[in-house]
Amino acid sequence: MTHSELRKVTILGATGSVGRSTLSLIEENPDRFAVEALTANRDVEALAATAKKVRAKLAVVADPEAYGALKAALSGSGIEVAAGGEAVVEAAARPADLVMAAIVGAAGLRPTLAACQSGAVVAFANKECLVCAGPLMLAEIAKHGTRLLPVDSEHSAIFQVFDAGRPETVSRIILTASGGPFRTWPRARMAGVTPQQAVAHPIWSMGAKISVDSATMMNKGLEIIEAHFLFNMPEPQLHVVVHPQSVIHSLVEYRDGSTLAQLGTPDMRTPIAVALAWPTRMPVSAPPFDLAEIGQLTFEAADPVRFPALALARRALQTGGDAPTILNAANEAAVAGFLAGTIGFLDIERVVEGALDALSGTVPASIDDVVAVDGEARRFALDHIRLRLSRRSVSPAV
Ligand SMILES: NC(=O)c1ccc[n+]([C@@H]2O[C@H](COP(=O)([O-])OP(=O)(O)OC[C@H]3O[C@@H](n4cnc5c(N)ncnc54)[C@H](OP(=O)(O)O)[C@@H]3O)[C@@H](O)[C@H]2O)c1
Repeated sequence: MTHSELRKVTILGATGSVGRSTLSLIEENPDRFAVEALTANRDVEALAATAKKVRAKLAVVADPEAYGALKAALSGSGIEVAAGGEAVVEAAARPADLVMAAIVGAAGLRPTLAACQSGAVVAFANKECLVCAGPLMLAEIAKHGTRLLPVDSEHSAIFQVFDAGRPETVSRIILTASGGPFRTWPRARMAGVTPQQAVAHPIWSMGAKISVDSATMMNKGLEIIEAHFLFNMPEPQLHVVVHPQSVIHSLVEYRDGSTLAQLGTPDMRTPIAVALAWPTRMPVSAPPFDLAEIGQLTFEAADPVRFPALALARRALQTGGDAPTILNAANEAAVAGFLAGTIGFLDIERVVEGALDALSGTVPASIDDVVAVDGEARRFALDHIRLRLSRRSVSPAV
Protein backbone atom coordinates (compact mmCIF):
# COMPACT_ATOMS: atom_id res chain seq x y z
CA MET A 1 0.00 0.00 0.00
CA THR A 2 1.19 3.55 -0.64
CA HIS A 3 1.09 6.05 2.20
CA SER A 4 -2.14 7.55 0.85
CA GLU A 5 -3.79 4.11 0.93
CA LEU A 6 -3.03 3.59 4.62
CA ARG A 7 -6.18 3.56 6.74
CA LYS A 8 -6.02 6.60 9.01
CA VAL A 9 -7.09 5.62 12.54
CA THR A 10 -7.88 7.67 15.66
CA ILE A 11 -8.14 5.88 19.01
CA LEU A 12 -10.24 7.37 21.80
CA GLY A 13 -9.19 5.68 25.05
CA ALA A 14 -5.81 4.62 23.63
CA THR A 15 -4.31 3.76 27.03
CA GLY A 16 -7.10 1.36 28.03
CA SER A 17 -7.49 -2.36 27.49
CA VAL A 18 -9.30 -2.06 24.12
CA GLY A 19 -7.09 0.86 23.09
CA ARG A 20 -3.91 -1.11 23.76
CA SER A 21 -5.17 -4.17 21.88
CA THR A 22 -6.07 -1.93 18.94
CA LEU A 23 -2.59 -0.39 18.98
CA SER A 24 -0.93 -3.81 19.07
CA LEU A 25 -2.76 -4.75 15.85
CA ILE A 26 -1.83 -1.44 14.25
CA GLU A 27 1.83 -1.93 15.20
CA GLU A 28 1.79 -5.42 13.69
CA ASN A 29 0.41 -3.98 10.44
CA PRO A 30 2.33 -0.78 9.63
CA ASP A 31 1.56 -1.29 5.95
CA ARG A 32 -2.18 -0.99 6.58
CA PHE A 33 -2.66 1.75 9.16
CA ALA A 34 -1.46 5.23 10.10
CA VAL A 35 -2.39 6.79 13.44
CA GLU A 36 -3.99 10.22 13.38
CA ALA A 37 -4.85 10.95 17.02
CA LEU A 38 -4.67 9.18 20.38
CA THR A 39 -6.56 10.23 23.51
CA ALA A 40 -6.47 9.26 27.20
CA ASN A 41 -7.84 10.61 30.43
CA ARG A 42 -4.65 11.29 32.41
CA ASP A 43 -2.17 8.44 31.83
CA VAL A 44 0.44 10.75 30.32
CA GLU A 45 3.30 8.28 30.46
CA ALA A 46 1.54 5.56 28.49
CA LEU A 47 -0.02 8.02 26.05
CA ALA A 48 3.27 9.78 25.26
CA ALA A 49 5.20 6.51 24.86
CA THR A 50 2.55 5.08 22.52
CA ALA A 51 2.17 8.28 20.51
CA LYS A 52 5.92 8.25 19.83
CA LYS A 53 5.96 4.55 18.99
CA VAL A 54 3.17 4.72 16.41
CA ARG A 55 4.08 8.25 15.28
CA ALA A 56 0.65 9.72 15.98
CA LYS A 57 -0.01 13.23 14.70
CA LEU A 58 -1.87 14.33 17.85
CA ALA A 59 -2.01 13.22 21.51
CA VAL A 60 -4.74 14.50 23.84
CA VAL A 61 -5.42 14.12 27.56
CA ALA A 62 -8.91 14.85 28.88
CA ASP A 63 -7.58 16.09 32.20
CA PRO A 64 -6.44 19.71 31.64
CA GLU A 65 -4.02 19.43 34.58
CA ALA A 66 -2.05 16.79 32.69
CA TYR A 67 -1.29 19.15 29.80
CA GLY A 68 2.12 20.31 31.07
CA ALA A 69 3.34 16.77 31.67
CA LEU A 70 2.19 15.60 28.23
CA LYS A 71 3.75 18.61 26.51
CA ALA A 72 7.05 17.95 28.30
CA ALA A 73 6.94 14.22 27.49
CA LEU A 74 6.37 14.90 23.77
CA SER A 75 8.60 17.93 23.38
CA GLY A 76 10.76 17.70 20.26
CA SER A 77 8.73 14.76 18.88
CA GLY A 78 6.74 16.86 16.40
CA ILE A 79 3.50 15.40 17.84
CA GLU A 80 0.76 17.96 18.50
CA VAL A 81 -0.45 18.07 22.09
CA ALA A 82 -3.77 19.19 23.57
CA ALA A 83 -5.79 18.78 26.76
CA GLY A 84 -9.36 19.08 28.05
CA GLY A 85 -12.75 17.61 27.23
CA GLU A 86 -13.24 19.85 24.22
CA ALA A 87 -9.83 18.84 22.82
CA VAL A 88 -10.86 15.15 23.02
CA VAL A 89 -14.03 15.99 21.06
CA GLU A 90 -11.92 17.86 18.48
CA ALA A 91 -9.55 14.91 18.18
CA ALA A 92 -12.54 12.62 17.56
CA ALA A 93 -13.78 14.95 14.81
CA ARG A 94 -10.44 15.20 12.96
CA PRO A 95 -10.53 13.65 9.49
CA ALA A 96 -9.83 9.91 9.81
CA ASP A 97 -10.99 6.75 8.06
CA LEU A 98 -11.81 4.96 11.28
CA VAL A 99 -12.27 6.07 14.89
CA MET A 100 -11.99 3.47 17.65
CA ALA A 101 -14.41 4.59 20.37
CA ALA A 102 -12.88 2.95 23.45
CA ILE A 103 -13.31 5.46 26.26
CA VAL A 104 -14.97 3.85 29.28
CA GLY A 105 -18.37 5.13 30.40
CA ALA A 106 -20.65 8.01 29.47
CA ALA A 107 -17.54 10.25 29.44
CA GLY A 108 -17.17 8.97 25.87
CA LEU A 109 -20.55 10.28 24.74
CA ARG A 110 -19.58 13.64 23.21
CA PRO A 111 -16.33 12.40 21.59
CA THR A 112 -18.06 9.30 20.16
CA LEU A 113 -20.87 11.47 18.85
CA ALA A 114 -18.32 13.80 17.24
CA ALA A 115 -16.73 10.77 15.55
CA CYS A 116 -20.16 9.69 14.28
CA GLN A 117 -20.71 13.17 12.84
CA SER A 118 -17.27 13.31 11.20
CA GLY A 119 -17.93 10.84 8.40
CA ALA A 120 -15.43 8.28 9.74
CA VAL A 121 -16.32 4.63 10.23
CA VAL A 122 -16.74 4.20 14.00
CA ALA A 123 -15.47 1.03 15.66
CA PHE A 124 -17.67 0.96 18.69
CA ALA A 125 -16.52 -0.44 22.05
CA ASN A 126 -17.84 2.29 24.36
CA LYS A 127 -21.25 0.65 24.93
CA GLU A 128 -22.28 3.08 27.70
CA CYS A 129 -22.75 5.81 25.02
CA LEU A 130 -25.42 3.84 23.21
CA VAL A 131 -27.04 2.79 26.49
CA CYS A 132 -27.32 6.35 27.78
CA ALA A 133 -28.28 8.09 24.53
CA GLY A 134 -29.39 5.35 22.09
CA PRO A 135 -32.21 7.09 20.15
CA LEU A 136 -30.28 10.38 19.85
CA MET A 137 -27.08 8.65 18.75
CA LEU A 138 -28.96 6.57 16.18
CA ALA A 139 -30.56 9.73 14.78
CA GLU A 140 -27.11 11.35 14.37
CA ILE A 141 -25.71 8.16 12.81
CA ALA A 142 -28.59 8.06 10.30
CA LYS A 143 -28.20 11.79 9.55
CA HIS A 144 -24.48 11.47 8.81
CA GLY A 145 -24.62 8.03 7.16
CA THR A 146 -22.09 6.72 9.72
CA ARG A 147 -21.12 3.07 9.69
CA LEU A 148 -20.96 1.76 13.27
CA LEU A 149 -18.95 -1.44 13.60
CA PRO A 150 -19.44 -3.26 16.90
CA VAL A 151 -16.31 -4.17 18.85
CA ASP A 152 -17.88 -5.87 21.89
CA SER A 153 -17.13 -9.53 21.14
CA GLU A 154 -20.81 -10.49 21.40
CA HIS A 155 -22.02 -7.75 19.08
CA SER A 156 -19.18 -8.36 16.64
CA ALA A 157 -20.30 -12.01 16.55
CA ILE A 158 -23.92 -10.99 15.90
CA PHE A 159 -22.80 -8.48 13.26
CA GLN A 160 -20.96 -11.28 11.45
CA VAL A 161 -23.96 -13.66 11.31
CA PHE A 162 -26.94 -11.26 11.27
CA ASP A 163 -28.72 -10.86 7.93
CA ALA A 164 -29.03 -7.08 8.07
CA GLY A 165 -30.78 -7.02 4.69
CA ARG A 166 -33.56 -9.31 5.97
CA PRO A 167 -33.95 -8.61 9.72
CA GLU A 168 -37.51 -9.95 9.63
CA THR A 169 -36.08 -13.46 9.13
CA VAL A 170 -34.44 -13.33 12.57
CA SER A 171 -36.44 -14.66 15.51
CA ARG A 172 -33.95 -14.13 18.35
CA ILE A 173 -30.52 -12.83 19.20
CA ILE A 174 -28.82 -14.92 21.88
CA LEU A 175 -26.00 -13.17 23.73
CA THR A 176 -23.56 -15.46 25.46
CA ALA A 177 -22.25 -14.54 28.92
CA SER A 178 -19.25 -16.03 30.70
CA GLY A 179 -21.12 -15.64 34.00
CA GLY A 180 -18.14 -13.77 35.50
CA PRO A 181 -16.07 -14.76 38.53
CA PHE A 182 -19.11 -15.40 40.81
CA ARG A 183 -21.15 -17.52 38.39
CA THR A 184 -21.56 -20.34 40.91
CA TRP A 185 -21.48 -18.31 44.13
CA PRO A 186 -24.51 -18.07 46.46
CA ARG A 187 -25.79 -14.52 47.18
CA ALA A 188 -24.65 -14.66 50.79
CA ARG A 189 -21.04 -15.21 49.71
CA MET A 190 -21.23 -12.39 47.14
CA ALA A 191 -21.96 -9.91 49.95
CA GLY A 192 -18.32 -10.04 50.99
CA VAL A 193 -16.74 -9.75 47.54
CA THR A 194 -13.71 -7.42 47.39
CA PRO A 195 -12.79 -5.19 44.41
CA GLN A 196 -9.75 -7.40 43.82
CA GLN A 197 -11.94 -10.51 43.49
CA ALA A 198 -14.44 -8.71 41.26
CA VAL A 199 -11.88 -7.52 38.71
CA ALA A 200 -10.28 -10.97 38.39
CA HIS A 201 -12.32 -12.17 35.43
CA PRO A 202 -11.90 -15.91 34.71
CA ILE A 203 -11.60 -15.48 30.90
CA TRP A 204 -11.19 -11.88 29.76
CA SER A 205 -8.56 -9.35 30.81
CA MET A 206 -10.33 -5.98 30.73
CA GLY A 207 -10.52 -2.56 32.38
CA ALA A 208 -11.74 -2.41 36.00
CA LYS A 209 -15.20 -0.98 35.30
CA ILE A 210 -16.28 -3.56 32.71
CA SER A 211 -14.77 -6.32 34.89
CA VAL A 212 -17.03 -5.33 37.79
CA ASP A 213 -19.97 -5.07 35.36
CA SER A 214 -19.21 -8.64 34.26
CA ALA A 215 -19.15 -9.79 37.87
CA THR A 216 -22.60 -8.27 38.60
CA MET A 217 -23.78 -9.26 35.09
CA MET A 218 -24.75 -5.62 34.53
CA ASN A 219 -22.40 -5.89 31.56
CA LYS A 220 -24.80 -8.36 29.93
CA GLY A 221 -27.68 -6.02 30.79
CA LEU A 222 -25.88 -3.12 29.08
CA GLU A 223 -25.20 -5.44 26.14
CA ILE A 224 -28.90 -6.28 25.80
CA ILE A 225 -29.59 -2.54 25.48
CA GLU A 226 -26.64 -2.14 23.09
CA ALA A 227 -27.94 -5.02 20.91
CA HIS A 228 -31.42 -3.49 20.90
CA PHE A 229 -30.07 -0.27 19.40
CA LEU A 230 -27.44 -1.82 17.10
CA PHE A 231 -29.72 -4.45 15.55
CA ASN A 232 -33.13 -2.80 16.06
CA MET A 233 -34.35 -5.89 17.89
CA PRO A 234 -37.18 -5.64 20.47
CA GLU A 235 -36.29 -6.56 24.07
CA PRO A 236 -38.32 -9.83 24.19
CA GLN A 237 -36.25 -11.16 21.25
CA LEU A 238 -32.95 -10.56 23.04
CA HIS A 239 -31.90 -13.57 25.09
CA VAL A 240 -28.92 -14.45 27.27
CA VAL A 241 -27.30 -17.82 27.83
CA VAL A 242 -24.40 -18.42 30.20
CA HIS A 243 -21.51 -20.13 28.43
CA PRO A 244 -18.50 -20.23 30.78
CA GLN A 245 -15.87 -21.10 28.14
CA SER A 246 -16.67 -17.95 26.07
CA VAL A 247 -15.90 -19.75 22.81
CA ILE A 248 -19.25 -19.03 21.16
CA HIS A 249 -19.41 -15.26 21.20
CA SER A 250 -23.16 -15.01 20.41
CA LEU A 251 -25.84 -16.53 18.19
CA VAL A 252 -28.57 -15.42 15.82
CA GLU A 253 -31.64 -17.64 15.51
CA TYR A 254 -33.60 -17.47 12.26
CA ARG A 255 -37.32 -18.19 11.86
CA ASP A 256 -36.54 -21.27 9.72
CA GLY A 257 -34.86 -22.94 12.72
CA SER A 258 -31.25 -22.24 11.70
CA THR A 259 -29.06 -20.78 14.40
CA LEU A 260 -25.81 -19.14 13.26
CA ALA A 261 -22.98 -18.55 15.71
CA GLN A 262 -19.50 -17.04 15.62
CA LEU A 263 -16.78 -18.96 17.50
CA GLY A 264 -13.19 -18.24 18.39
CA THR A 265 -10.59 -17.96 21.11
CA PRO A 266 -11.68 -15.36 23.67
CA ASP A 267 -9.29 -12.62 22.56
CA MET A 268 -10.48 -9.04 21.98
CA ARG A 269 -7.99 -8.64 19.15
CA THR A 270 -10.31 -10.67 16.90
CA PRO A 271 -13.42 -8.45 17.12
CA ILE A 272 -11.13 -5.38 16.98
CA ALA A 273 -9.51 -6.77 13.81
CA VAL A 274 -12.94 -7.40 12.28
CA ALA A 275 -13.71 -3.70 12.73
CA LEU A 276 -10.26 -2.43 11.71
CA ALA A 277 -10.15 -4.40 8.46
CA TRP A 278 -13.85 -4.23 7.56
CA PRO A 279 -15.12 -4.94 4.89
CA THR A 280 -12.18 -7.31 4.37
CA ARG A 281 -10.36 -9.34 7.05
CA MET A 282 -6.85 -9.23 8.43
CA PRO A 283 -4.75 -11.92 10.10
CA VAL A 284 -4.41 -11.95 13.90
CA SER A 285 -1.50 -13.86 15.41
CA ALA A 286 -3.09 -16.26 17.88
CA PRO A 287 -2.63 -19.87 18.97
CA PRO A 288 -4.62 -22.29 16.79
CA PHE A 289 -8.30 -22.62 17.69
CA ASP A 290 -8.62 -26.29 18.61
CA LEU A 291 -12.12 -27.52 19.48
CA ALA A 292 -10.84 -31.02 20.29
CA GLU A 293 -8.53 -29.50 22.88
CA ILE A 294 -11.35 -27.34 24.29
CA GLY A 295 -13.35 -30.60 24.51
CA GLN A 296 -16.62 -29.34 25.94
CA LEU A 297 -18.81 -26.31 25.51
CA THR A 298 -21.40 -25.91 28.27
CA PHE A 299 -24.46 -23.71 28.65
CA GLU A 300 -26.75 -22.73 31.48
CA ALA A 301 -29.59 -20.28 32.09
CA ALA A 302 -28.71 -16.94 33.68
CA ASP A 303 -29.92 -16.82 37.30
CA PRO A 304 -32.11 -13.73 37.77
CA VAL A 305 -32.17 -14.12 41.55
CA ARG A 306 -28.42 -14.11 42.10
CA PHE A 307 -27.85 -11.56 39.32
CA PRO A 308 -30.69 -8.98 39.47
CA ALA A 309 -28.74 -6.48 37.32
CA LEU A 310 -29.98 -8.28 34.21
CA ALA A 311 -33.62 -7.61 35.13
CA LEU A 312 -32.81 -3.98 36.02
CA ALA A 313 -31.36 -3.45 32.54
CA ARG A 314 -34.39 -5.09 30.90
CA ARG A 315 -36.67 -2.89 32.99
CA ALA A 316 -34.77 0.24 31.89
CA LEU A 317 -35.00 -0.80 28.22
CA GLN A 318 -38.74 -1.54 28.49
CA THR A 319 -39.38 1.75 30.31
CA GLY A 320 -37.38 3.70 27.72
CA GLY A 321 -37.02 7.50 27.88
CA ASP A 322 -34.40 8.43 30.46
CA ALA A 323 -34.40 5.05 32.26
CA PRO A 324 -31.36 3.57 30.41
CA THR A 325 -29.44 6.84 31.05
CA ILE A 326 -30.26 6.59 34.76
CA LEU A 327 -29.37 2.89 34.87
CA ASN A 328 -26.00 3.56 33.28
CA ALA A 329 -25.07 6.63 35.32
CA ALA A 330 -26.11 5.11 38.66
CA ASN A 331 -24.20 1.96 37.78
CA GLU A 332 -21.05 3.93 36.90
CA ALA A 333 -21.22 5.84 40.19
CA ALA A 334 -21.93 2.68 42.19
CA VAL A 335 -19.12 0.72 40.53
CA ALA A 336 -16.71 3.60 41.27
CA GLY A 337 -17.92 3.55 44.90
CA PHE A 338 -17.38 -0.21 45.10
CA LEU A 339 -13.90 0.01 43.55
CA ALA A 340 -13.02 2.76 46.04
CA GLY A 341 -14.12 0.50 48.89
CA THR A 342 -17.00 2.73 50.02
CA ILE A 343 -19.86 0.33 49.29
CA GLY A 344 -20.22 -3.44 49.08
CA PHE A 345 -20.62 -5.51 45.93
CA LEU A 346 -24.35 -6.12 46.42
CA ASP A 347 -24.91 -2.40 47.08
CA ILE A 348 -24.24 -1.74 43.38
CA GLU A 349 -27.57 -3.14 42.24
CA ARG A 350 -29.37 -1.49 45.22
CA VAL A 351 -28.06 1.92 44.16
CA VAL A 352 -29.12 1.33 40.54
CA GLU A 353 -32.58 0.09 41.53
CA GLY A 354 -33.02 3.05 43.90
CA ALA A 355 -32.12 5.49 41.12
CA LEU A 356 -34.53 3.86 38.65
CA ASP A 357 -37.34 3.89 41.25
CA ALA A 358 -36.76 7.52 42.21
CA LEU A 359 -35.87 9.24 38.97
CA SER A 360 -37.15 7.80 35.69
CA GLY A 361 -39.95 9.55 33.85
CA THR A 362 -38.65 12.03 31.29
CA VAL A 363 -37.60 11.61 27.65
CA PRO A 364 -34.29 13.33 26.80
CA ALA A 365 -34.72 15.40 23.63
CA SER A 366 -31.07 16.38 23.23
CA ILE A 367 -27.59 15.34 24.30
CA ASP A 368 -27.68 18.19 26.83
CA ASP A 369 -30.80 16.57 28.34
CA VAL A 370 -28.96 13.23 28.50
CA VAL A 371 -26.01 14.88 30.25
CA ALA A 372 -28.41 16.53 32.74
CA VAL A 373 -30.18 13.21 33.51
CA ASP A 374 -26.80 11.49 33.80
CA GLY A 375 -25.64 14.13 36.31
CA GLU A 376 -28.85 13.85 38.36
CA ALA A 377 -28.56 10.05 38.52
CA ARG A 378 -24.91 10.29 39.61
CA ARG A 379 -25.84 12.77 42.37
CA PHE A 380 -28.64 10.45 43.50
CA ALA A 381 -26.24 7.50 43.56
CA LEU A 382 -23.64 9.45 45.54
CA ASP A 383 -26.28 10.53 48.11
CA HIS A 384 -27.40 6.90 48.37
CA ILE A 385 -23.79 5.81 48.89
CA ARG A 386 -23.23 8.50 51.57
CA LEU A 387 -26.42 7.41 53.34
CA ARG A 388 -25.29 3.79 53.37
CA LEU A 389 -21.91 4.87 54.68
CA SER A 390 -23.39 6.99 57.47
CA ARG A 391 -25.64 4.09 58.50
CA ARG A 392 -22.58 1.85 58.53
CA SER A 393 -20.66 4.28 60.75
CA VAL A 394 -23.64 4.65 63.16
CA SER A 395 -24.08 0.89 63.33
CA PRO A 396 -20.89 -0.94 62.40
CA ALA A 397 -22.66 -4.29 62.75
CA VAL A 398 -24.86 -3.57 59.68
N1 LIG B 1 -11.76 -4.37 27.81
C1 LIG B 1 -12.47 -5.15 27.03
O1 LIG B 1 -12.07 -6.28 26.75
C2 LIG B 1 -13.80 -4.69 26.49
C3 LIG B 1 -14.61 -5.58 25.78
C4 LIG B 1 -15.79 -5.13 25.25
C5 LIG B 1 -16.20 -3.81 25.42
N2 LIG B 1 -15.42 -2.97 26.13
C6 LIG B 1 -15.85 -1.59 26.33
O2 LIG B 1 -14.84 -0.72 25.83
C7 LIG B 1 -14.77 0.47 26.63
C8 LIG B 1 -13.34 0.60 27.17
O3 LIG B 1 -13.10 -0.48 28.06
P1 LIG B 1 -11.64 -0.80 28.61
O4 LIG B 1 -11.78 -2.08 29.35
O5 LIG B 1 -10.67 -0.67 27.51
O6 LIG B 1 -11.47 0.40 29.67
P2 LIG B 1 -10.13 0.87 30.39
O7 LIG B 1 -9.08 -0.16 30.28
O8 LIG B 1 -10.54 1.32 31.74
O9 LIG B 1 -9.68 2.14 29.52
C9 LIG B 1 -10.47 3.28 29.45
C10 LIG B 1 -9.84 4.32 28.54
O10 LIG B 1 -10.67 5.50 28.58
C11 LIG B 1 -9.88 6.62 29.05
N3 LIG B 1 -10.76 7.45 29.87
C12 LIG B 1 -11.24 7.16 31.10
N4 LIG B 1 -12.01 8.17 31.54
C13 LIG B 1 -11.98 9.13 30.59
C14 LIG B 1 -12.53 10.44 30.50
N5 LIG B 1 -13.28 10.97 31.47
N6 LIG B 1 -12.31 11.14 29.36
C15 LIG B 1 -11.55 10.64 28.37
N7 LIG B 1 -10.96 9.41 28.41
C16 LIG B 1 -11.19 8.67 29.52
C17 LIG B 1 -8.74 6.00 29.85
O11 LIG B 1 -7.64 6.89 29.96
P3 LIG B 1 -6.57 6.74 31.19
O12 LIG B 1 -5.79 5.49 30.90
O13 LIG B 1 -5.75 7.96 31.09
O14 LIG B 1 -7.37 6.65 32.45
C18 LIG B 1 -8.45 4.77 28.98
O15 LIG B 1 -7.71 5.16 27.85
C19 LIG B 1 -15.83 0.32 27.72
O16 LIG B 1 -16.99 0.96 27.31
C20 LIG B 1 -16.07 -1.18 27.78
O17 LIG B 1 -17.35 -1.51 28.20
C21 LIG B 1 -14.23 -3.37 26.67
